[in-house]
Amino acid sequence: MVAGKGFGKIILMGEHFVVHGAPAIAAGLDRGVTVKLDLIDGFENQISETIEKETHAHMLKALEALQAQNQSSQKVKVHAIDSELPMGQGLGSSAALSVALARALNQAEGLNQSDEVINQNAFASEVIFHGKPSGIDNTVATYGGLIRFQKSLNPGQAPLVQSVNAKKPLYFLILPTHQKGSTRELVENVFEFKAKNEVQFQNLLESTEDLIRKTNVALEEGALQTMGQAMSLAHEYLNAIGVSNQALNDRVSACIQLGALGAKLTGAGGGGCVLALFENESQRQIAQGKLKVKGYEAFDATVKC
Ligand code: MEV
Repeated sequence: MVAGKGFGKIILMGEHFVVHGAPAIAAGLDRGVTVKLDLIDGFENQISETIEKETHAHMLKALEALQAQNQSSQKVKVHAIDSELPMGQGLGSSAALSVALARALNQAEGLNQSDEVINQNAFASEVIFHGKPSGIDNTVATYGGLIRFQKSLNPGQAPLVQSVNAKKPLYFLILPTHQKGSTRELVENVFEFKAKNEVQFQNLLESTEDLIRKTNVALEEGALQTMGQAMSLAHEYLNAIGVSNQALNDRVSACIQLGALGAKLTGAGGGGCVLALFENESQRQIAQGKLKVKGYEAFDATVKC
């Protein structure tokens, strides 16, 4: 039996606008998805009965897409899936699963694929689930780390992926709403918003690009206040294109009241999680305790590089 793992992710800035050509900054989480599988004789892939039934259809489709990429007719049985990420909460569980399966298939079949190929294969799987993904989720799920990502507007051309240096560690809290947002639907809704509000959308996209530029510099200089302010503005822009909701806005406000330098939804929105930045570990811990008293769950994630 072989195992493969994909990382979860947080998008620090640029979600949705990244689908339309803006850059985005994202970081890999230590938490991820691991799958275990074996090669089998037969004509169909199999998923163990011990794995939650609701995930079977998703996994079978992902396997099909990945095997088509590998031009392989070799079938497999998935024995186990261990997810440290809540599903549908904007933390990249679907991309992490695609990468985990791609890595496990690579190992099981001895294909010796590079990370670049694993990433491309996982993207093909993501297209099936999300329709028009930018590719940021599978890229972070493959490589981890802190990256700046910009998709090419020429179909078929590779995105621009650069690593970003952060001078100081980034102390985040992640607050799940436990509401599931469908990335496919939210991305489609944003295309509709753009079609109906072309000028407003273009202005928001350019403002987000400006925030990304400032955030890039802020990360390199350790200017966390600037970065926090940019995150809160980014949330307002995401709210303006209709991907936030009350549960997310409430959590953003609560974090700011409790001393966060900035807070925003992360991922596709429509539920999912809020990401809040703190100056240091102790500020984060104090806020975490107070959020708990207010009834908000929050877990920590620290990005260092
Ligand atoms: C989802 O994690 C990020 C989105 O920007 C979609 C994408 O980039 O594929 C909403």
